[in-house]
Amino acid sequence: MSRKELWSGRFRKQLDPGALKFTSSPEDALLFRYDIAGSIAHAMGLERAGIIGPKELKTLVGGLRNIYGRFSADPEKILSGEEDVHMAVERKLTEMHPGSGPRLHTGRSRNDQVALDLRLYSREGIVRLLASLMALEKTILSVCRKHISAPLPSYTHLQRAQPVYLSHYYLAHFWRFMRDIQRLQRVFDALNTSPLGAGAIAGSSLPLEPSFTSSLLGFSGPFDNSIDASSDRDFCLDTVHACVMAALHLSAIAEEIVLWSTAEFGYVSLPDALSTGSSLMPHKKNPDLAELVRGKCGSVTGNFVSMVVSAKGLPLGYSRDLQELKKPLFESIEEVSSMAGTVSEMVSGISFNTGRMAENASDQLSFSVEAVDGLVRSGMPFREAHGAVGKAVAESIEKGISLGAVMRKSWPDIVFPESAGEAIEMRLSHGGSSLASVRKQITASSGEMARARKWMESRSRLMAAVDLLLGGK
Ligand code: ARG
Repeated sequence: MSRKELWSGRFRKQLDPGALKFTSSPEDALLFRYDIAGSIAHAMGLERAGIIGPKELKTLVGGLRNIYGRFSADPEKILSGEEDVHMAVERKLTEMHPGSGPRLHTGRSRNDQVALDLRLYSREGIVRLLASLMALEKTILSVCRKHISAPLPSYTHLQRAQPVYLSHYYLAHFWRFMRDIQRLQRVFDALNTSPLGAGAIAGSSLPLEPSFTSSLLGFSGPFDNSIDASSDRDFCLDTVHACVMAALHLSAIAEEIVLWSTAEFGYVSLPDALSTGSSLMPHKKNPDLAELVRGKCGSVTGNFVSMVVSAKGLPLGYSRDLQELKKPLFESIEEVSSMAGTVSEMVSGISFNTGRMAENASDQLSFSVEAVDGLVRSGMPFREAHGAVGKAVAESIEKGISLGAVMRKSWPDIVFPESAGEAIEMRLSHGGSSLASVRKQITASSGEMARARKWMESRSRLMAAVDLLLGGK
């Protein structure tokens, strides 16, 4: 604690230990890797600008890589007693190389440094989250292929609506998660510019070239405006908003698992390994994992709200409030990745009770729209047909006879589906429930998966720049 802060020149007294603790940023452990890679790129930029010589560059790069090797397994170690990762790394480097270490921070500020680290973190975090969402999509598609023509009721207002195939139903989940994947891709591409060289707020009087370090780090280009670049955190909010959307979709499929695993529905059963028991009621098998996915969606949404509130009303230029955006950013990415992994495990381990689903899907009342369509095809105006079938529904319920029987009595020439499968196959419309439509969706979904995989490959090539700078792989 008796160490001086590296910025302490203009101060007569040392920072109060309580103030150090209050201002410190322990979550920076997650930025360690990016801080070192960014510092190596910056050192290379200093050499290119003639501010340091090749020998000093070698010493700095060697020192930074050495620090990375020593602390990457446990960055907490280097952080203890330090304000943040930037100070910790610079101090260690200077201890190791008292001649060259103090030159590293030339033309740079912690403001452009942390903005850079956060962009590098977000890039890798987004790709990690994308990988878990892609794995989930694969699992969902295999459910669709396996149960391509298993009928179940669909629900509106959670009331039985019209029968569909389980494949069509699960493809709805697929498309939601595909939108999350594409949203995250857009966020990645929008954040992939380098803020390094913006300095504290106003750039530098030294001949640094932000475009040089930008390309070393695999960015698509440098910032446009130093004031904006040093304090912009839009990308953090965009990333967490994309996390919230994925979490909403994960919580919806989790809620469905909770509901469908009740004795009342009985559509799915979870494997024992993914279920929990009751401390009192021996018969219980509870879907705690699914409930936690649902619950964690609330925490991730809370993260987004906390970030908006922290960022609200901040003046242009760096303010320390921005430090508060880091934890919710890190937590959201890590949490939603693990939620996606958990849902993927549940979906692949679940057994679907297709018999029970089929039984409920065969409820003739849920073929009422096909009956209306039949009357419409015979020339009856829709509203009249709707009223007529409505009356038939009431009669079927009152007299306890099937809707088909009531319909055949009054309109023997109108085709009424004999089964759920027949009703489903009547809906040949685009994106509708018939097998032909479902097969088209599966082909389209494979195309989207291939496109997403290609995107991942090309961005992984960009991101390899970080490992290259760190001297690995
Ligand atoms: N730890 C700070 C953060 O995370 C780094 C930037 C500090 N800059 C400053 N001018 N105090 O935001």
